[in-house]
Amino acid sequence: MDDLVAELAGALGEANLLVSAEEKAPFLCDWLGKYRGAARAVIRPGSTAEVAAAMRICARHNAPVVAQGGNTSMSGGATPDSSGRAVVLSLTRLNSIRNIDTVGNTIAVDAGVVLAKVQQAAEEAGRFFPLSLGAEGSCTIGGNLAANAGGVAVLRYGTMRELTLGLEVVLADGRIWDGLTSLRKDNTGYALRDLFVGSEGTLGIITGAVLKLFAPLRARATAFVAVQDIDAALALLAAIRNRCGDRLTAFEFMTGDCLALILRHAEGVRLPLAAMPPAAVLIELSDQDDETALGERLEATLIGGVDAGLVIDAAVAQDGMQARAFWRVRESISETLVRAGKAAKHDVSMPISAMAEFVAATEAAVRAAASGVRPIVFGHLGDGNLHYNLLPAEGQDPAAFAALAPGLTRIVHDEIGRRRGSISAEHGIGQLRVDEMPLRKAPIELELMRSLKHLLDPAGLLNPGKLLPAGPCPLAPETEDDHGSAR
Ligand code: FAD
Ligand code: MLT
Ligand code: ZN
Repeated sequence: MDDLVAELAGALGEANLLVSAEEKAPFLCDWLGKYRGAARAVIRPGSTAEVAAAMRICARHNAPVVAQGGNTSMSGGATPDSSGRAVVLSLTRLNSIRNIDTVGNTIAVDAGVVLAKVQQAAEEAGRFFPLSLGAEGSCTIGGNLAANAGGVAVLRYGTMRELTLGLEVVLADGRIWDGLTSLRKDNTGYALRDLFVGSEGTLGIITGAVLKLFAPLRARATAFVAVQDIDAALALLAAIRNRCGDRLTAFEFMTGDCLALILRHAEGVRLPLAAMPPAAVLIELSDQDDETALGERLEATLIGGVDAGLVIDAAVAQDGMQARAFWRVRESISETLVRAGKAAKHDVSMPISAMAEFVAATEAAVRAAASGVRPIVFGHLGDGNLHYNLLPAEGQDPAAFAALAPGLTRIVHDEIGRRRGSISAEHGIGQLRVDEMPLRKAPIELELMRSLKHLLDPAGLLNPGKLLPAGPCPLAPETEDDHGSAR
């Protein structure tokens, strides 16, 4: 056992230190199976103090640290590189709900608590925690914060950033910042909390958080609606927003090709409509009460949509079971894409008014570049966020498609760039998009981010190779490896 590992064992207990290849394996590959890394050890501290002790030890040994929660990242953010130098720090043993305040409407949690457990704890306390995404059964609050997760309720409640009041963070040198405030107003200096949200483990290790709670939603109305195309979906979105306001809690778009793929690959999923549509939207309204009135409001809006030529057909859920069946269609997409083969995945956002034109222009461009390529498009339309996935032509050799993928990504992201959009709406940069950052971020943005990174992690030990590409930093003297690793 080398010195670093021996010291970590002393601080955390041998049982919370995984060193054998077999024990480490599940922590070294990402959910999509795209990245496989190596690690000196996987450590599982059981408290903030133990995280701090581990960080001090790793800093002393100049050992990189990769924080990991549920390991559901879609950008390879939680997978260490292949050098084998890194220590993977799993937060999963920090899994307590620390406090629920139903007067102040806040919940204080450890970073390793699984999102579904926070949703349940809120419900049991007569409140609602709105973050909701397909990985909610395994992703953790720390990962949700570090990746500033989005999901299906952003259009009403915002991303994880908007749901967070306070953070507890262990810095690269082991110091603990207790920023666990439940204050809704506090204008005493820079927004330190917001620096760490979305920092993907590159600025500090989040060990706790205070999150907002909301009034429970006792009434829901859910519909699966056939539309002609994204244009019609966007016009329907505007109509629903005008008529239903904040009652609109989900507006999930998918193309007919996406729907056909789901029905082909997902078990136990039925088409909720009489016929396969050109495109569809899963719509959900929710409110504190009066489910009948809510359902009538949704139906009246959809009838208006039919009259306006926006809606082809619609199935309105008659009960909770039907609503869950509609949601199962939507929630099957990620697994479906994995089963359908290696897709070139893109998680993009843009001004909502640019979406229809983006889809038309990008589809023409990718089809010209790769004949037979299959765009599988779905996403959170209300947030301007599309998951723009490209599958190989039927029967195409996966290796041949993989060779085309970088060029296709360049096309998709150039179309996004032309519309002042983002190449990562919610999945983060991780290692998937890090090399593209110099192309997509202004030099001053990279300079500011490198300065912050140098300030908080001067040795460059926190999640190296993720989010921020190597490059010159105004605070750090030029070193020969500025072209090798982010400082
Ligand atoms: P991990 O994957 O373990 O880590 C994610 C990143 O955060 C890594 O960079 C890691 O180093 C860092 N990190 C983790 N914990 C900490 C910590 N305590 N302190 C500091 N850094 C930390 N994402 C969305 O936004 N919207 C979606 O709709 C969505 N749907 C998904 C559906 C499926 C089926 C899957 C598999 C993923 C989906 N994701 C989605 C992506 C992913 O679930 C989210 O990014 C989630 O927030 C990651 O949480 P995690 O605990 O798994 O983090
Ligand atoms: C989703 O909205 O389902 C996720 O972001 C995951 C994905 O893009 O597959
Ligand atoms: Zn998503």
